[in-house]
Amino acid sequence: MGRFAEHAVLVTGGAHGIGRAVAARLSSEGAVVTIADRDVEAAEATAAELSAGGATVVAVACDVTDRESVDAAVASAVEAQGRLDVLVNNVGVAGWSRFEDLEEEEWHRQADPTLLGAFRCVKAALPHLLDSPHGNVVSVGSINGIAAFGEVAYSAAKAGLQSLTQNLAVEYSPRSRRAAGLDGSVRVNLVAPGSIRTRAWEPEVIARIGTRYPMFRPGEPADIAAAVAFLASGDAAWITGLILPVDGGLLADGRLLTDVFFPG
Ligand SMILES: NC(=O)c1ccc[n+]([C@@H]2O[C@H](COP(=O)([O-])OP(=O)(O)OC[C@H]3O[C@@H](n4cnc5c(N)ncnc54)[C@H](O)[C@@H]3O)[C@@H](O)[C@H]2O)c1
Repeated sequence: MGRFAEHAVLVTGGAHGIGRAVAARLSSEGAVVTIADRDVEAAEATAAELSAGGATVVAVACDVTDRESVDAAVASAVEAQGRLDVLVNNVGVAGWSRFEDLEEEEWHRQADPTLLGAFRCVKAALPHLLDSPHGNVVSVGSINGIAAFGEVAYSAAKAGLQSLTQNLAVEYSPRSRRAAGLDGSVRVNLVAPGSIRTRAWEPEVIARIGTRYPMFRPGEPADIAAAVAFLASGDAAWITGLILPVDGGLLADGRLLTDVFFPG
């Protein structure tokens, strides 16, 4: 049945792009996947398409900027599946403004779903993850959280997501939980993608940027899904608090596309 047999997984933003690829990959390895997305129509279409191939994928309406909506989505997934083993925090909202033009409203538009959204989802999911012998969280960050690629609000939120990941990894580790006299533990990790071919990019732009990567192509959603699947699986049983760049060699190269992201 695969690495995720008898696992229930919730993927936020799973209707499109990277989240959809994560739902496809984990369900192909045996997971029952709930896609929690604001775009309900697309979430239902994705769930139907993936289920047609024999997987079990369901959709639930969820806006990660709304605590009640997140709580209801997690409750409905747990009620349907009877458990929750893996949370994939995949929603993120980017934008582009030079810092001098960036105002608070735009900061919140990007940072709220990207960072606070993950906080809300973890809050709702943790009690259930703690009940699971495999309980873990994988968040989708970005190389923007690691180095300067512009998009200050988005980048700061992604860097915050890294800190959330590392702090939760320690607070929910077996050592900390036992020291506090508490049962259960949860692994918490993050995948930081480089430029990935999704609807977030114009096709010609992502193709051009891809040739600047050492791997000489942009990333595909499936490249990220493979890394998420690894970290969520028992193969990563001794990995927690990891920030894993999946970036076609870009950070190692050190030439950070500065001319692309800071033109002029
Ligand atoms: N595409 C890239 O190059 C790239 C690079 C690095 C990181 N990322 C990150 O990967 C993740 C997915 O990006 P993508 O490119 O697949 O985007 P996408 O636009 O293809 O998919 C995003 C999904 O999130 C959903 N969504 C948006 N706001 C939501 C909300 N408030 N509540 C619930 N669902 C919501 C959308 O409906 C959509 O299904 C994001 O966190 C993004 O920051 C993407």
